[in-house]
Amino acid sequence: MGNFNAGIISTGRAYPEGVLTNADLERMVETSDEWIKTRTGIEQRHRAAEGEYTSMFAVRAARQAIERARIDPMEIDVIICATVSPDQILPSTGCLIQAELGAHNAAAFDLVAACSGFVYGVTIANQMIRCGQAKYALVIGAEVLTRYVDYTDRSTCVIFGDGAGAAILGQVEEGRGILATRIRSDGRFAEQLFSPGGGTRIPTSTATLEQGMHFFKMRGNELFKVAVRSMTEVSIEVLTEAKATANDVKLFVPHQANQRITDAVADRLGVDSARVYSNIAMHGNTSSASIPIALDECIEQERIAKNDLVLLASFGGGATWGAVALKW
Ligand code: ACO
Repeated sequence: MGNFNAGIISTGRAYPEGVLTNADLERMVETSDEWIKTRTGIEQRHRAAEGEYTSMFAVRAARQAIERARIDPMEIDVIICATVSPDQILPSTGCLIQAELGAHNAAAFDLVAACSGFVYGVTIANQMIRCGQAKYALVIGAEVLTRYVDYTDRSTCVIFGDGAGAAILGQVEEGRGILATRIRSDGRFAEQLFSPGGGTRIPTSTATLEQGMHFFKMRGNELFKVAVRSMTEVSIEVLTEAKATANDVKLFVPHQANQRITDAVADRLGVDSARVYSNIAMHGNTSSASIPIALDECIEQERIAKNDLVLLASFGGGATWGAVALKW
């Protein structure tokens, strides 16, 4: 290890112009604006149009982050694209992004950890920078989840949205940047959120398409409890390792899954609502993109200042979860 830490040095975000409001959904399934707002906090979500795809938004977000970091794409050593909605199975969306950016010196790959993808990506990039394998890492969370949403299933179609967020990680002085990370998973929850068809187990066929097996299926209320418990636990772990308490947290930026999950985790941690960032009303759940989009908005709104302790926490399909404590 050198005498430096890794830190997030810039961010960027992008999403489709198209918006699906609760009123739009009221016309598609048996739901109401009132139900969606009270049960999730969501008012609208961005939705990719035909012809728009994941790497498109990833590249836009990444270009902003690269420009703000004032680096050349050729200086990037690794590109980690966290996604569960890749452009295609092969090649990785990471490689497609690399080509678009002209970041030809980078190793590029996709990371599948659902909504925890960005936290997983930051954890890996942190280690690569700290052990000298990378000077600059580009970590992206990018999703066009709406392609996997069944717009006849009211329990999932009201939740998910599209977008991308990106961060450049690089060396920062010791004592700042990423102070602690934790990533966890439990495959016993695999069938709480999954898309059964389209892989090698149940290959795509006319029958699988007719049965909608390529769509996401979710047992939301079962995941809800696990999400609250595990995000709280892992947040306490990283704060303890960073020798900090919830009182020290200047801003808590959780994965935007459901406003009630955010509120319950913040309450258990003892972080008051003024120190919690939420944009779920405008974006819905964008899975791996939600934390980097939120971080970029926080920076734009000057909600984070130098030396602030920032806590990130996520939970997603798999199940996967994780947290990062960082000193900005
Ligand atoms: N409109 C109206 N009613 C609805 C809707 C809807 N859109 N969706 C469900 N309902 C009904 C149900 O049918 C049920 O009716 P019933 O009581 O007559 O059977 C009732 O509302 C309650 O359903 P629940 O599923 O218990 O509702 P809940 O309050 O749990 O909210 C939600 C559902 C929003 C999905 C919530 O459980 C949630 O957010 N879960 C967490 C999801 C999560 O964190 N996933 C992992 C991350 S995502 C990723 O990794 C990609």
